[in-house]
Amino acid sequence: MFTPTKTILEKAHKNHYAVPHFNINNMEILQGVVQAAVKLKSPIILATSEGAIGYAGMEYLYALAKVAAETHKIPIALHLDHGKDLNIIKKAIQLGYSSVMIDASHEEFEKNIAFTRKVVQLAHRQRISVEAELGTIGGAEDLVESRKILYTNPTKAKEFVNRTGCDFLAVAIGTSHGAYKFRGKADLRQDIVEQIRKLVKVPLVLHGASGVPEKIVKEAQKYGAKLTGVYGVPDSQIKLAIQKGITKINTDTDLRLAFDAAVRKAVQARPADFDPRHILGPAREAIQKVAEQRITLFDSKGKA
Ligand code: G3H
Ligand code: 13P
Ligand code: ZN
Repeated sequence: MFTPTKTILEKAHKNHYAVPHFNINNMEILQGVVQAAVKLKSPIILATSEGAIGYAGMEYLYALAKVAAETHKIPIALHLDHGKDLNIIKKAIQLGYSSVMIDASHEEFEKNIAFTRKVVQLAHRQRISVEAELGTIGGAEDLVESRKILYTNPTKAKEFVNRTGCDFLAVAIGTSHGAYKFRGKADLRQDIVEQIRKLVKVPLVLHGASGVPEKIVKEAQKYGAKLTGVYGVPDSQIKLAIQKGITKINTDTDLRLAFDAAVRKAVQARPADFDPRHILGPAREAIQKVAEQRITLFDSKGKA
């Protein structure tokens, strides 16, 4: 069955590579990322957001992930991404997720600690590990509208981990979710990762890490996607972040872009073909290709 997220991440932490966290929303995305991990012999963390759960249902996503974990010999974990609703967090713990994230980063420090502690107590009782977040990892809107990033304070990070007992910490160093991460040059505070790494023992997590590959964006644009001013985290910055001490890297946007480009292409290439398998099959292959590139970049290839 699932491998505990903690086991997967502690091994990676010790051996200085990062483990891919891929967001899944349906069967094709799951199969694409799992095929990539199987082919490259990489551990993998499958993640469902509250949005994914709202779309597909927690039981369906859990069942799909379970089949993957039972079928393949590589370490596979199932993780709740950005848990904010305590009922969803409790349900994931009950169902047998490998780990849950409590995202109370929008709350002030003491409230974030209180919420996180509560989830840690619930999860640890069932031997499930907890990811928490300190600082602000915004969405595109946050960057555009307020242009304010609350970087994680290293001293506060140490206090936060000690007082909450969380198992992994998501840090804010200037990344954001979605395809509109920067205006111009990627500006990341890698020095913050380095400082936190020295003060905190638990594995560190990088959200909003998609690369928004130009090739995929161009392909999507060619078939009608309206994407202007998109910009992701360059591969060189991902490598540096791993060197400085990041152990888990979250990717969703790159999968969405690849899926979108492939579906657009398939639909336009075969206007008389209405078989969903001929539309979603190429999307699954595109997902696999992106996942293979991410696994190679994170150096988790061959670590299963
Ligand atoms: O962290 C955000 C992930 O990309 C999930 O996004 O909430 O739209 O599923 P979502
Ligand atoms: P991206 O939007 O950069 O893929 O980040 C995904 C993420 O952080 C999921 O938690
Ligand atoms: Zn995230």
